[in-house]
Amino acid sequence: MSTLAIRSTTLMRSTHLCRPILLQAQLLHHPIGIASSSRSFSVSARRSIQKDEPRQASLALQSDVREKEEHSKNKIVGGEGKGVEGPHYQDQVPLATDTLADESITGAWTMMNPIYTESELDTVKVVGRTPVTIGDKAAHRTVKFLRKAFDVLTAYKAVPIPQSVLKQNPIPIAELRAKGQLLSHHKWLFRFILLESIAGVPGMVGGTLRHLRSMRLLRRDGGWIHTLLEEAENERMHLLTFMTMAQPTVFTRALVLAAQGVFYNAFFLTYLFSPKTAHRFVGALEEEAVRTYTHCIEDMENGLIPEWNDVPAPRIAIDYWRLPTDAKLLDVIRAVRADEATHRFVNHSLANLDQKKDFNPFALVEANAQTRGEKWGFTRQESADFAKQQQQKLMEASKQKHIASH
Ligand SMILES: [Fe+2]
Ligand SMILES: [Fe+2]
Repeated sequence: MSTLAIRSTTLMRSTHLCRPILLQAQLLHHPIGIASSSRSFSVSARRSIQKDEPRQASLALQSDVREKEEHSKNKIVGGEGKGVEGPHYQDQVPLATDTLADESITGAWTMMNPIYTESELDTVKVVGRTPVTIGDKAAHRTVKFLRKAFDVLTAYKAVPIPQSVLKQNPIPIAELRAKGQLLSHHKWLFRFILLESIAGVPGMVGGTLRHLRSMRLLRRDGGWIHTLLEEAENERMHLLTFMTMAQPTVFTRALVLAAQGVFYNAFFLTYLFSPKTAHRFVGALEEEAVRTYTHCIEDMENGLIPEWNDVPAPRIAIDYWRLPTDAKLLDVIRAVRADEATHRFVNHSLANLDQKKDFNPFALVEANAQTRGEKWGFTRQESADFAKQQQQKLMEASKQKHIASH
């Protein structure tokens, strides 16, 4: 695959500003056509996609369940339209085209969805921040404890496989798995599903609490809410992607339920009393997520998960990350890891800010993918410099546009 790039990730947030105008223009252009073409496209396309879905796919994606829903008297409102997650601003750029009728353009997302170039995916590194304050240390120790408990639960060991074993032909995979030195594809998936079902909680809790605080105090939030909600959405997409590959057992569902019940409340209370510690905790948790996904990627590249060799990327992942149609599962996991590096970077940076006064430096423009992949985060001073630079750039661009239009 040569490139995953469709656009640069910088300035992506400012493009959102154009959305309502573009959408309005498009709706005026095609007042009826959009709704009707979206329905017919969606149902037929979904059926053809489902033919290729494995039987073990998540319950909601199984074709018989879908068919039952479609023929049911109690129709799901809006469930049949293309892009039920809402229009994506990229779809609206060429106004002359009816993007909803064009089958080559897929998926549509209301919230910002990350898109990476091939080289950006390679920049992600396993990095960690040394804890400084008591809160930092408490957050790091809690993460280390949770990681250990989780490793025991999922029979995970980070054992490097010696080069001499990797050179053997064939590699004795069954033997290594029996010794517990290698995770099977089932065990990787079990781990991912548990991990991701927890990971979607912090952004939503943080976003909710800051939303309520803004209304309670009748004050601006400073751009934190949307970044946090985008993080929650991004983690949910990771979960939905992995759910297309496995039907979770009753045991997994029970674990997800129990973990969510406990974790949501624990994180809620932590965020209420010390949002700094809560963001530091997420930063540390994401350091571990990058470590785990890097391990999985290395195993895949070394041919240690043969069941996943050349497995095509799930459809939902192609839509969300805008991957090429021939993308593989490996590309998806590399994109997931890049997302985790972003969460690591953003949360550590937010943890360094004054939670009550400071603006979110990434509210208008994200740091570039390389910075997010290689650095654990920005210090408070770096955040201030970054925000200032980006504001100046946007103002300069706006001035240039104004001059050009006169
Ligand atoms: Fe994730
Ligand atoms: Fe994450």
